[in-house]
Amino acid sequence: MKFSQLKLGEKILIAVSALIFVFAILSFVMLEVYRSHLNHPMYQNNTSFVFTDEGKKGSVLFRTDGCPDCHRAVRNGTNQGVDLDGIGSKRSLDYLLQFLKKPEATYETKTMDHGLNKGAAYVAGLPDADLHALAIFLSELKATQGSPDARLPMPERSGFVDEMVKIWAPSTWKHQYHDLREDASPPNNPRQ
Ligand code: HEC
Repeated sequence: MKFSQLKLGEKILIAVSALIFVFAILSFVMLEVYRSHLNHPMYQNNTSFVFTDEGKKGSVLFRTDGCPDCHRAVRNGTNQGVDLDGIGSKRSLDYLLQFLKKPEATYETKTMDHGLNKGAAYVAGLPDADLHALAIFLSELKATQGSPDARLPMPERSGFVDEMVKIWAPSTWKHQYHDLREDASPPNNPRQ
């Protein structure tokens, strides 16, 4: 059938689909051209790592013990579970070790995959020395303070954040929660 024989509605539908298609291709090409001209990565990298010997051992175990099936870390793995890059700035070594050994008691709620009879239940049964190396590896995955992966807010005070807190945080929160930005060295957080 020729294009001219189509009904008006069909012509409009085809034209709109073609436009969307052309727009998508053009946007992709423009984005790639823009990206190839940048002399820095398009997205700022907020995570970093320096591994000790045990951390390196843990990073090998991380790959051989199947963690990247669900987790992403150090440019490995999938996004199915939690992204673990930067977790060393959010959780303490002690927490990580406890989580690997007793996930549900540590997580304080049911876990999706680390609990009994679940996909990652085998992790708690790994040899102690391996779990220790894995925990060390995870604790060495750091995030820049103030970035989304870090537990602590940015070191400098932000007028914007102050304003948002004033507008949006109910005043009762002042008594219920501790404002981390108010102390130089934040207290130990039990969920750390
Ligand atoms: C079958 C998928 C799966 C596998 C395999 C897996 N995990 Fe997980 N992991 C998860 C999910 C999902 C979560 C989030 C907690 C939950 O609901 O289980 C998680 C949570 C975690 C956390 C806690 C994060 C936090 O902030 O409390 C750590 C640490 C962790 N995994 C490490 C590992 C390590 C190390 C391995 C390999 C030895 C591993 N995981 C294997 C799915 C998996």
